[in-house]
Amino acid sequence: MDKPKVVLGVSGGIAAYKACELLRRLTESGHDVRVVPTASALHFVGAATWSALSGNPVSTEVWDDVHEVPHVRIGQHADLVVVAPATADTLAKAAHGLADDLLTNTLLTARCPVVFAPAMHTEMWEHPATQENVATLRRRGAVVIEPAVGRLTGVDTGKGRLPDPGEIFEVCRRVLARGVSGPDLVGRHVVVSAGGTREPLDPVRFLGNRSSGKQGYALARTAAARGARVTLIAANASLPDPAGVDVVPVGTAVQLREAVLKAAADADAVVMAAAVADFRPETYAAGKIKKKDGQDPEPVVLVRNPDILAEISSERARPGQVIVGFAAETDDVLANGRSKLDRKGCDLLVVNEVGERKTFGSEENEAVVLGADGSETPVPHGPKEDLADTVWDLVVGRLS
Ligand SMILES: Cc1cc2nc3c(=O)[nH]c(=O)nc-3n(C[C@H](O)[C@H](O)[C@H](O)COP(=O)(O)O)c2cc1C
Repeated sequence: MDKPKVVLGVSGGIAAYKACELLRRLTESGHDVRVVPTASALHFVGAATWSALSGNPVSTEVWDDVHEVPHVRIGQHADLVVVAPATADTLAKAAHGLADDLLTNTLLTARCPVVFAPAMHTEMWEHPATQENVATLRRRGAVVIEPAVGRLTGVDTGKGRLPDPGEIFEVCRRVLARGVSGPDLVGRHVVVSAGGTREPLDPVRFLGNRSSGKQGYALARTAAARGARVTLIAANASLPDPAGVDVVPVGTAVQLREAVLKAAADADAVVMAAAVADFRPETYAAGKIKKKDGQDPEPVVLVRNPDILAEISSERARPGQVIVGFAAETDDVLANGRSKLDRKGCDLLVVNEVGERKTFGSEENEAVVLGADGSETPVPHGPKEDLADTVWDLVVGRLS
């Protein structure tokens, strides 16, 4: 089988060097990558680097190898075009259909999915001109990844940083996997909770669970690749921030509830993938609980945590908001799942069987998605991203 053809457009931002890592990941995972830098990009990383790392010729202009009509062919043959970093200038040119170099010509001739990963100073990103250009590109079906917040060129800090190249790679992988299905969550805000809450007993101990957060992060990553604005409420997950996703870290169930209610106020869908503790210790010891010679330990009294899924399902923040829950069951999986779905009042419930070596921390999952309308969608054993995409397919069906 032919390798998928990816065009990596690189424009003239300080983050151009990070595109080398993205290029590496793309080539090492079996993609045929043609790098098309702008002339400005070559001030940051030279053509020799792009050519050596990609194994393909590199040019910035339409006037090289004219007999091969590269200004048309490169775009026509691409399965994916990703521009990383995308400067304010390149976004403006793309939004307005300018075609004065090889990259902008390629963007006009490509009929495959297009991903932009903008990176620039906060002022440039927030400028209404850039924001309107981004809105135009999104409206036309491009995936424009929200920049990250962090250190920018020089001493400045703010929004505008290129997301981690590994996470841009994950977006590319998902967009390629979905092909021309297109970003069907553009203009939607989705909230995902992930990880496992920790209920503190004292400053060093807590009651927790085995959830790694990988399923919730896969949901956030896939939603971003489908064009959604994503808020990820992350409970104690030590995973890299998915590209373009607004991550809100929380610790306990009570903190998770607050963050979910706040983010859900204007959300089209809320997916509760986090493992939330049903109970928490009634008291919190301000100092470390000590062993006392000859004495039995004090019993730990537990009190109920709020039932967030039931609460947001019964009091929807917006009409038509779609709510999805997760149920990890150890036995009688489907029957327990159906009764949980009825009790909670959500629209969809993803039911999976868990155990010591099942689901928690693994890269793969297998589940059945139960619908309040009586539907049952089995998702065979596979990557957590596949289950995530099935969830979004079902959500999209309910949103429209
Ligand atoms: C040191 C330096 C860093 C720059 N970093 C960025 C950047 O991160 N994002 C951006 O939009 N422009 C940045 N610029 C400005 C662009 O290079 C300039 O707008 C250029 O015309 C972009 O051309 P291109 O879009 O064809 O690559 C930077 C310029 C310099 C000199």
